[in-house]
Amino acid sequence: VNSNATTIILFGATGDLARRKLYPALYSLYKKKNNFAVIGVARRDYDHEVFRQNVYESLKNHSNPENDAEDFIKRFYYYPLDVKDTKAYDGLKELADQLNDQFDLQGNRMFYLSLAPEFFAPVTLNLKQAGLTTNTGWKRLVIEKPFGRDLESAAELNNSIHEVFEESEIYRIDHYLGKEMVQNIQVIRFANPIFEGIWNNRYISNIQITSSETLGVGERASYYDHTGALMDMIQNHMLQMVALTAMEPPSRFVTEDIRDEKVKVLRSIRPLTDSTVANSVVRGQYTRGTMPNGDVVKGYREEENIKEQSMTDTFVAAKLHIDNFRWAGVPFYIRTGKRMTAKSTEIVVQFKDAPKRPYFNNFNDLQPNLLVIHVQPDEGLSLKLNAKKFSTGGGSIPITMNFSNSNNDDGSSAYERLIQDCIHGDSTNFTRWDEVALSWQFVDYIAEAWKERNIPLDRYEAGTMGPASAHELLAKDGHHWWPLT
Ligand code: BG6
Repeated sequence: VNSNATTIILFGATGDLARRKLYPALYSLYKKKNNFAVIGVARRDYDHEVFRQNVYESLKNHSNPENDAEDFIKRFYYYPLDVKDTKAYDGLKELADQLNDQFDLQGNRMFYLSLAPEFFAPVTLNLKQAGLTTNTGWKRLVIEKPFGRDLESAAELNNSIHEVFEESEIYRIDHYLGKEMVQNIQVIRFANPIFEGIWNNRYISNIQITSSETLGVGERASYYDHTGALMDMIQNHMLQMVALTAMEPPSRFVTEDIRDEKVKVLRSIRPLTDSTVANSVVRGQYTRGTMPNGDVVKGYREEENIKEQSMTDTFVAAKLHIDNFRWAGVPFYIRTGKRMTAKSTEIVVQFKDAPKRPYFNNFNDLQPNLLVIHVQPDEGLSLKLNAKKFSTGGGSIPITMNFSNSNNDDGSSAYERLIQDCIHGDSTNFTRWDEVALSWQFVDYIAEAWKERNIPLDRYEAGTMGPASAHELLAKDGHHWWPLT
């Protein structure tokens, strides 16, 4: 019996995510001997053959198809569906039953919703109604973000899908949790006593988490203009990285214990108030500017299908406090945005300064120790230290110890890891409902304050690291953002 067998029913099969990430990820999983067939579902009027050619194109553009790609695409079937047409689900069920027998898929079913979020609930209910979820093996729902638009709508959505799936069957995907170096955070922390021993407010001055992008809104205006960076990145990826960086060691390395510890961090984040939102959160929007490669790019409001007066945040920086024994007094600074100087995700742990007097009075170059976790584009770890200047004179020089993972993450491997986890029934690196709820609770307050109060939208030129206010946010505390490396 091959326990890695499943039918994958993929809603949104003609979409961008499927093409760029999911098909290359599935191809790798196929090479690793997972046995699956895929039913691609979307509105377009394709047949199996056209769909297969599209999947093949995706491999050509984003992967490296070899001879086995021919057999791989034969596992792809297409089912055109208007997701609101409840009757049409019967045919989907027939096809799924047929493929289950044909490929010996053990009655297992993965439903992958890569759809506009308003369809998450209706599709789930329709699947049940058509009997698709009373299969003989396991059933699992993989659901893309955004999971709701605020706490209230997220809770509603959650209730709807709970009518069909148990919490343990729901895999809310946050692809940052599939990234190699995000998964490495726990190992770096807990497998190295030299770090874990000083991972607290006695030794750490502040923590900075940046996820910057060079791309603009691109063709996603209709999604992005009513989402913005706060909901698109902070609510999920950024808070997840905060949780992993700040969590206590779990009592056992098992799914629910790890998630419990992440939840405790989210629960300890000091709630913002009317007066603290303005001082702790910066919202920005890019204007026309020149990117480092020389390209002059449009401002956000000039982009296609963006409202001229749009107040959407394309950049957010925030200061968080985690009110527990480990972190009291240590600010966590997070920032993310589009059209910034570089595509980069980094976690910088800045340690407290060594006492300068009386020992190091004339060491002008003394720098704080930094541990940097490089999430992307390079994967690695670096540690910045001070050493004696290599000369007869006195003084110090900063040195860096570097570890670089030569693996080049093409972006689909995060999805590959997560889909493999789902096939294995391991939901550790997916977000549990209480994590989602607490993240919304934090984000809702900011969104509310932005809407209700006169909090400015700070403009920044494309190609920069955000508005001046994002730098002032740290300067007020006597800190500064460490340049990306
Ligand atoms: C997605 C956001 O979740 O993450 C996008 O919707 C963003 O707006 C993307 O571009 C960034 O992911 P990555 O893996 O390229 O850092």
